[in-house]
Amino acid sequence: MSATIKSPDEIQKMRVAGRLAADVLDMITPHVQAGITTEELDRLCHDYIVNEQRAIPAPLNYRGFPKSICTTLNHQVCHGIPGDRKLKKGDILNVDVTVIKDEYHGDTSKMFYIGEPSILARRLTRVCRECMMIGIEMVRPGIRLGDIGHAIQKHAESNRFSVVRDYCGHGIGRVFHEDPQVKHYGKPGEGMVLQEGMTFTIEPMVNAGKHTVKTLPDQWTVVTRDRSLSAQWEHTVLVTSDGVEILTLRDEERDGSLAI
Ligand code: MF3
Ligand code: CO
Ligand code: CO
Repeated sequence: MSATIKSPDEIQKMRVAGRLAADVLDMITPHVQAGITTEELDRLCHDYIVNEQRAIPAPLNYRGFPKSICTTLNHQVCHGIPGDRKLKKGDILNVDVTVIKDEYHGDTSKMFYIGEPSILARRLTRVCRECMMIGIEMVRPGIRLGDIGHAIQKHAESNRFSVVRDYCGHGIGRVFHEDPQVKHYGKPGEGMVLQEGMTFTIEPMVNAGKHTVKTLPDQWTVVTRDRSLSAQWEHTVLVTSDGVEILTLRDEERDGSLAI
């Protein structure tokens, strides 16, 4: 497994793409309410990316994916296809946005509560975000991906949740999904050593029940086999000389106003 090291010029393009992806999540946030359908959310994001950002929604037609964002509900794990399902109180939803600007990708997702979530849904969502942030905060030159995966897994499992094994984070740049694979589980001291200039995603999927998943007949939507709830958060990050830069960070995360 190898990873591309981005040049300063490429890093600047990754910053722009990351910012645009984050902006889409900010734009869509006030619309994520009971009564709206996930295809209405898709349409709003599509039009914003194409018409306002002059960018490309990467999922559209990616390996045959039919929509511009992924909308993943409740016991779905990832890659939910927007459709005519109306959001209703008690749902939890992940919206995953990837944009291409000037040939470079920015990839990020966040969770939403529709109305008041159950105590379990809230705890799962919070622990999953903690898993992502624990991983991100470890990123620096010299650390190994196994160290990060292990820390993420430990946090999820110490909360009696499980980490999905079948889907991982990924290197990202001109290519949507490139090496390395960023596993959200693993052993300390194993895996690739990180170097300055690498860009990749950290996007743990955490299940309230067992880690096993299956894909629905639509060939995209991944669900938990035991139908337990699942949560996911995602950021695109850059390895800097002394740590990490989150390329998809939103203001609500910077100023602490993110309510989860
Ligand atoms: N955005 C997803 C990821 O984080 C990938 C979606 S691929 C799609 O890697 F085709 F389902 F959109
Ligand atoms: Co991703
Ligand atoms: Co994504």
